[in-house]
Amino acid sequence: MLRGLLVLIILVGCSCETEEKLSEFSSHPTTVKARENNTVLLPCYLNTLSNDAAYAIAVRWYKDNDLIADSSNESVAVPERHVLWENGSLEITVVQPSDTGEYTCEIERPEPWGPIRQKHAIEVLHSPSVDPYPPTGFLQVRLGEEVRMSCKGTGVPYPIITWHYQGEEMQLLDHRELLKFTASDRRLAGTYECAAANGVGEPARAAIELKITYPPEVTTTRAWMHTAPGHRAHIECKVAADPLATVTWLKGEVQVPIDSRVLALVDGDKHTLLIRNVQRSDFGIYTCRAVNDLGQGEQHIQLSGVPNPGVFKKTEEKNQNAKSSYTLIWEVDSYTPIIEYNLWFRPYMPRSGANRPNWTKLTIPTEYSSGPVYSKSYTIKGLKEKTIYEALLVSRNRYGWSKPSPILRFATAGADLNEDMVTTVQVNVQDNIIPLEVMSSAIRKEISLCTLTILLLKFLI
Ligand SMILES: *[C@@H]1O[C@H](CO)[C@@H](O)[C@H](O)[C@H]1NC(C)=O
Ligand SMILES: *[C@@H]1O[C@H](CO)[C@@H](O)[C@H](O)[C@H]1NC(C)=O
Ligand SMILES: *[C@@H]1O[C@H](CO)[C@@H](O)[C@H](O)[C@H]1NC(C)=O
Ligand SMILES: *[C@@H]1O[C@H](CO)[C@@H](O)[C@H](O)[C@H]1NC(C)=O
Repeated sequence: MLRGLLVLIILVGCSCETEEKLSEFSSHPTTVKARENNTVLLPCYLNTLSNDAAYAIAVRWYKDNDLIADSSNESVAVPERHVLWENGSLEITVVQPSDTGEYTCEIERPEPWGPIRQKHAIEVLHSPSVDPYPPTGFLQVRLGEEVRMSCKGTGVPYPIITWHYQGEEMQLLDHRELLKFTASDRRLAGTYECAAANGVGEPARAAIELKITYPPEVTTTRAWMHTAPGHRAHIECKVAADPLATVTWLKGEVQVPIDSRVLALVDGDKHTLLIRNVQRSDFGIYTCRAVNDLGQGEQHIQLSGVPNPGVFKKTEEKNQNAKSSYTLIWEVDSYTPIIEYNLWFRPYMPRSGANRPNWTKLTIPTEYSSGPVYSKSYTIKGLKEKTIYEALLVSRNRYGWSKPSPILRFATAGADLNEDMVTTVQVNVQDNIIPLEVMSSAIRKEISLCTLTILLLKFLI
């Protein structure tokens, strides 16, 4: 009783000085970043003069609002690896990722003061890991369908995700976990790799293999093949398809009968119809047709006896100083002798539209020579001086007229001929050929990886 009174007197006597102190923590709220297996000490000290805990009736610790330690109640089981020290601090040894959380210390003070609380946090640093979706790391879509793949990162701190496509980092606007785009081009297939990094340990990586199925795409490098009876002809096409396509060869709409003379060969994506000992009846238009579940594709290839298109040979400019004439040299490949050439020429006026000068046709006979390469030179006379001309050539053997040669531009003395772009012609080859149109060939480039990236970005942004 006396003791209680004393305490009361002290309390009353000291209240003015201690109230302020008792309301303060000398410890500060902290966030402790710890590596796994470290020891962490969370403080909970009142601003008292000594270690004397007389002002604290009880200290309690809560983890994420669950009571884990209570100095006034021994029945509260302190979790393993946790120690509540006399001075109120909480020690956790061999910390585990599961120890990450918010820790609140509560001090119960004597009447009339209520309890006060302070919050701390533990972040157990944890190297990242990553979960790809699809979890198998393999994704298959059809051309044109939507692609969705993701990499869910875990770790403390939370990792950032970066993506690589075919070994190149993708320039995305953020560190997204989900990649979503349309498989608009089969070349978007390949390996997508994600990396999750948080500065703790090595980044975690996962790869997703994207497979895009698509209907057959058939290409051919030569849509027109020259041959002659008795020769051997290779008609070729290339087939890209996923799933693999079935390829058939047709002539007209009839399937080509395969026998010992006519063989269908396959080498990877290259399909060849090999015709031995060509007969005149083999001439015609062949179709390479490829079919899979998703559709079909085809290319037509003409097998013909008419000569290959002629090619003008470059002549030495210094020999061409004549004012009104010009010598052209050309070559034509043909397995069957050339009977005659038609040389067409006219002044070259790039911007004359419909009023373009008419073509002049010269019929040039052949002298006997042996094939299959026929060369010829011819001097056009009566040309205007200081003029640029253009010329093209067609040639005829017993099977008919060839397609026109590429156009050649040349100039009489005094006219300046720049290195023109390569030009090709589209001409109606009939009995009376009329060159219809001259156009510059567009410079085509294979789609580069760069273009692909742009394509991807277009979908992702
Ligand atoms: C923590 O200790 C365990 C058991 O000894 C060990 O397997 C683990 O690798 C340790 N973690 C770190 C980050 O050192
Ligand atoms: C002590 O803790 C136990 C277990 O949490 C609880 O059942 C009991 O009521 C507590 N006793 C007091 C006096 O608060
Ligand atoms: C509280 O007790 C622990 C364990 O004995 C000790 O490590 C720590 O330094 C003490 N804190 C203060 C402020 O005395
Ligand atoms: C081109 O030929 C047509 C028909 O033969 C003729 O009417 C026209 O005047 C000719 N043009 C030139 C520029 O000679």
